[in-house]
Amino acid sequence: MARISYDDQTAAAFKAVREIPRDGLEHWRDAIRRHLDPSPGMTVADIGAGTGAFAGAFSDWFGLRVLAVEPSAAMRAQIPRRAGIEALAGDAGALPLPDGSVDGAWLSLVIHHVPDLAAAAREIRRVLRPGAPVLLRQGFAGRVDTTHTFPWEFYPEIAQMVTDTYPSVEQVCEAFATAGLRRDALERVPETLTSLAGFLDRIDTFRHADTNMRGLTEEEFLRGKELLRRAVAEHGAETRTNWLDLLVLR
Ligand SMILES: C[S@@+](CC[C@H](N)C(=O)[O-])C[C@H]1O[C@@H](n2cnc3c(N)ncnc32)[C@H](O)[C@@H]1O
Repeated sequence: MARISYDDQTAAAFKAVREIPRDGLEHWRDAIRRHLDPSPGMTVADIGAGTGAFAGAFSDWFGLRVLAVEPSAAMRAQIPRRAGIEALAGDAGALPLPDGSVDGAWLSLVIHHVPDLAAAAREIRRVLRPGAPVLLRQGFAGRVDTTHTFPWEFYPEIAQMVTDTYPSVEQVCEAFATAGLRRDALERVPETLTSLAGFLDRIDTFRHADTNMRGLTEEEFLRGKELLRRAVAEHGAETRTNWLDLLVLR
């Protein structure tokens, strides 16, 4: 079970405001290339693919075949339907894929939704070809950095939620170790998001599309919005860089 219901309204909001513009993802493209070593014709499982932002990117960047596995029908309906991308119902604990059929697994902002990490690790290992990597794009408990994570400078409560409720790198590695996959790399990767003014314009939609922002009280939400308003008045055109971890297991 996900932490929130990814219903039609959430899926539409996610599509509208949570997909990072492709030109803000160049460091991710480079990092993924280094660890996945992609070549056209390879198949990757995008697990918890959401609205398909990364499925589209993997297909466009590297010419890969992407199997976009997503449990929410509403999110799945937003995945681009085009050659090279197949949208499939399933979740990390039950992948609709044959044994040894994929050259890599990608999980972006998914692992904190997975109820049984060890079971998911075994299932992911089952569908991977020997030696194929698992790549996770994620914020982890214990690696919270409010100065480099957007929009935590306005919402420190979210940093606390991650610390209190997300798995740590160690917990994820322990779960994957039970499936025979070991930590291969851990690096922080920057991504360029919207301008502050653009964020303020869309913050109400963003709140609906983000698990952690939905966990804020009305008072916390409005307090952060006021801080954001002041920041926009001072430097509204500034963009913000966000840093997330890339954890690679193999
Ligand atoms: C924050 S969204 C991330 C979507 C996409 N990966 C991205 O980065 O744009 C989390 C997604 O994980 C999916 N999800 C929730 N529980 C899951 C599970 N147990 N296995 C796989 N995906 C899951 C949700 O339905 C949702 O689409």
